[in-house]
Amino acid sequence: MSPHNIISEIDGLGDKTAKKLIWNARNALGMTEFITAEEIDENTEYITTGSSELNRILGGGFQTGKLTEVYGPFKSGKTNLAHTIAVTIQLPRKKGGLGSAVAYIDTENTFAKEKIKRIAKRFELDPKKVLSQIFHARIYSSDHQSQMIQKAETLCKTRNVRLIVVDSLMALLRSEYVGIGMLARRQGVLNNMIHALSRVAETYNCAVLLTNQVSTKIMGMFSANDAIGGNIVAHGCHFRVMFKTKGFSSNSSLKRRAIIVDAPDLPPEEAEFFITSVGIADTEKGEVPEAKGLNFEVEALYEEEVQELERCDNTVDSEEYALVDVKGIGDGTAKNLAKSGITSVEALLDSDPEQLASKISGISSKMINEWQTNAKALLSA
Ligand SMILES: Nc1ncnc2c1ncn2[C@@H]1O[C@H](COP(=O)(O)OP(=O)(O)OP(=O)(O)O)[C@@H](O)[C@H]1O
Ligand SMILES: [Mg+2]
Repeated sequence: MSPHNIISEIDGLGDKTAKKLIWNARNALGMTEFITAEEIDENTEYITTGSSELNRILGGGFQTGKLTEVYGPFKSGKTNLAHTIAVTIQLPRKKGGLGSAVAYIDTENTFAKEKIKRIAKRFELDPKKVLSQIFHARIYSSDHQSQMIQKAETLCKTRNVRLIVVDSLMALLRSEYVGIGMLARRQGVLNNMIHALSRVAETYNCAVLLTNQVSTKIMGMFSANDAIGGNIVAHGCHFRVMFKTKGFSSNSSLKRRAIIVDAPDLPPEEAEFFITSVGIADTEKGEVPEAKGLNFEVEALYEEEVQELERCDNTVDSEEYALVDVKGIGDGTAKNLAKSGITSVEALLDSDPEQLASKISGISSKMINEWQTNAKALLSA
């Protein structure tokens, strides 16, 4: 499924070989035969968004196998939706999830563990387990973003990831590629990301959520609420959903509106939902069940973490020096020393230089003497 030019760039493969490989691989998978429509394996699955209204206009929930773009102004709830479905996908199927894990590509540093824990509690899941099933990557550049999108595929293969979140798709591209002159290049990079995600979505029947910002009106070229990224995003995504904050009386209202802008088989409907402290919901106050057995306190978990961190700090403080800290000893030498049983600075000081030198080729007793002197200096420093 990789484009031909990507394969042919691999060292040692020419154009011809790449083409042959791809065609043969397709043959092997039976991809070179037409099948009847009856045989098409759609197998779409749905993830609940936390709001039954939003699920309804999405045709049952957030769909697998497709790319969904959610765009809207700041504060419109995009990141909240991302957090909510990162939890609900972990629910069992009969409760609206897929019992699967998540890859979360975070370009804006807005991922919040505390929020995830609260949402987990709302859905009666163990917050700690939920966090362990979210694979998070903080992204610093658009190139890094491309790289981690590729990496996410590995997680689909090995970690049962069935949802990839990119929050947000355009933020870094927008800041790195400024001006009309850079547009073609930016769209090229974007195109590759969208294609890679599309391929993964299809191959692993994985859901993909891309959040996007909107552009402000510039000289009448864009309407006020256009998503950025242009045609590549618009055509690359199967579902496009707009979130709106406008039209609600006060700015502090947490009521939001979602509108299906484009979908292959959904009418252009609207729904209202709320942002709550426990994610997207139908009502202003998200309900946290008082179920029995749900006694994992968010605060308690937090304390545990702090203690763990403190413990790590202590061990770092009291830790002995490593062999590589000794002047003259590099990684390779440290490994060779370890093979002869010398794994710490203390052990090095205790060893007999003549004897040790006879055990390791390429090392003289003189060198060991020198390291011992350096080690002493290090410990007394
Ligand atoms: N714990 C909470 N309880 C209630 N509302 C909250 C809570 N946390 C955040 N909000 C509200 O959610 C809104 C922010 O939503 P969110 O971060 O999902 O927006 P966004 O669409 O991702 O925005 P941006 O474009 O800036 O990334 C704010 O209006 C904030 O008041
Ligand atoms: Mg956001």
